[in-house]
Amino acid sequence: MAPVKVTVTGAAGQIGYALLFRIASGQLLGADVPVTLSLLEITPALKAAEGTAMELDDCAFPLLKGIEITDSADKAFDGANVALLVGARPRTAGMERGDLLEANGGIFGPQGKAINSHAADDIRVLVVGNPANTNALIAQAAAPDVPAERFTAMTRLDHNRALSQLAAKLKVSVTDIKKMTIWGNHSATQYPDLFHTEVGGKIAAELVEDAWLRETFIPKVAKRGAAIIEARGASSAASAANAAIDHVHDWVNGTPEGDWTSAAIPSDGSYGVPEGIISSFPVVSRDGRWEIVQGLSIDEFSRERIDASVGELVEERDAVRALNLI
Ligand code: NAI
Repeated sequence: MAPVKVTVTGAAGQIGYALLFRIASGQLLGADVPVTLSLLEITPALKAAEGTAMELDDCAFPLLKGIEITDSADKAFDGANVALLVGARPRTAGMERGDLLEANGGIFGPQGKAINSHAADDIRVLVVGNPANTNALIAQAAAPDVPAERFTAMTRLDHNRALSQLAAKLKVSVTDIKKMTIWGNHSATQYPDLFHTEVGGKIAAELVEDAWLRETFIPKVAKRGAAIIEARGASSAASAANAAIDHVHDWVNGTPEGDWTSAAIPSDGSYGVPEGIISSFPVVSRDGRWEIVQGLSIDEFSRERIDASVGELVEERDAVRALNLI
């Protein structure tokens, strides 16, 4: 079997360090799928990326068939089958949203263009670098020859956080919980929805107090990233890498029967989310494609929260449109 080429941007960063070893060990695609890794970094970080590559060598992973390290997006995405776009420009103190979007446009626009020109026909893109949903939209717009559905953004970490919080509350195992959903943006406006989540055949929202759902669960999931920074002095890295592994693994290999997961994918207009917006939905993966779970009833409480988060995504889209980034 020819190796699958996986390109990781921001490879020398902390998520990169937690991610590359798991890809090389077979956890991204499967224990029988050989991979080559392409590490894209900015020039000053190439040396650090080389250090990580030395450690990858030292693991003697049977599935790892090659590593390349480069600061050229054209080279990094040449023939790529999977692209994990992790490197991004963080928001620094006093930075306005427009400045942040523009700085990231300068990264995700050229990377989208390089993917368009050089990636393999089956390329799948997961954007992790924040603001992830809108960065994915920017990359997608720069890659008109790649099917739009191949550009996705990560809300799987939020999904996993929601599973873990609910499992702790109900004193059950995360495997007892099915059909968790994160709606909207990977930001503090995201909406973790327990109204369709099942635990032992019952709806989760009916197993917890209303006040816990509103005042503890939703804010705790949405603000978990900030709590990790506060505790660790650095942002989530291993858990973010783990979620990226989960997202791509399920995209390629399918989601289990009778369950679904959450991913930010281009909207087809389902649930009133404007077409084209890259928003988180309840999704299943079949035959290597994400599909939005249809037919869920959305009550007023959920509607308000989905609309608020999607409204933020629409504002971000309009802002990058005004900056001619899409
Ligand atoms: P980090 O700062 O440790 O690493 C980022 C790396 O990206 C650095 O090595 C930097 O040199 C590199 N980089 C910057 N511009 C680049 C470019 N144009 N091309 C290639 N590489 C470039 O950051 P960390 O902790 O690894 O986080 C990465 C991103 O992931 C951040 O934007 C963070 O906000 C986001 N994130 C997203 C999560 C999600 O759930 N969607 C969860 C956690 C983090």
